[in-house]
Amino acid sequence: MSMAIEIKDLTLVIEGRTILDVPEFTLAAGESVSLMGPNGAGKSSLMLVMALLQEPTSGELKYFGRKLEDYPRLELQRRMAMVFQKPMLLDLSVLENVDLGLKFRGLSRRERSSRINDSLEQMEVAHLAKRRARTLSGGEAQRVAIAQALVVEPEIIFLDEPFSNLDKEIREEMMLHIDQWLRQKHITTVMVTHHRREADVMTDTVYWMEDGAIVSRESVETGEKCES
Ligand SMILES: Nc1ncnc2c1ncn2[C@@H]1O[C@H](COP(=O)(O)OP(=O)(O)O)[C@@H](O)[C@H]1O
Ligand SMILES: [Mg+2]
Repeated sequence: MSMAIEIKDLTLVIEGRTILDVPEFTLAAGESVSLMGPNGAGKSSLMLVMALLQEPTSGELKYFGRKLEDYPRLELQRRMAMVFQKPMLLDLSVLENVDLGLKFRGLSRRERSSRINDSLEQMEVAHLAKRRARTLSGGEAQRVAIAQALVVEPEIIFLDEPFSNLDKEIREEMMLHIDQWLRQKHITTVMVTHHRREADVMTDTVYWMEDGAIVSRESVETGEKCES
């Protein structure tokens, strides 16, 4: 089994406080996992570290079997995408926001345009393409942020409470769409959620976090749980 991410002896200490203490964590290529646990447990911090957006205090990280230090950082970042707890969009149109990552990756205009259409349609925000991102509602912005992450077809995607701003009716539909997309493209997925239903539908394994540590691992299919 090939590994997407391997973590060893990871710590994150901020102002003398231990935010993360993760002796070991591995994510197989193509695997989908949820991080669950109370507020302040360190779920977002762990995702930020894995997405290379937060420098850990110590630890060893491997991506696709190679040490982090052996990669040009940019090359590795291009293979990943993240949806933040609060959607982060620039003061541009929806279309321009979704196009950013594609431009960054040097795709042709034609390829970009077809992918943008696809992902906006998936997320049911195609009608908003020309709108300025700052005029969107919270739920619309969140859907655009997800489109922005999906459009680059990352090998690993990090979703931090991706449905939290969505109404109940649209939440279920979006979840099923995204689940289908991620599985079809075999995208390795790490999702933070407070909803067991989302974890069950979208992921194979649930990791429970408390006080900066992973305290147990549970298989969605078998319900088997092991403490760590
Ligand atoms: N940049 C930061 N500076 C100081 N404390 C932080 C920072 N980021 C996170 N924390 C603290 O780390 C802990 C874990 O936060 P977080 O990873 O956001 O938890 P979760 O996503 O599980 O709610 C919290 O106590 C939070 O206040
Ligand atoms: Mg969080």
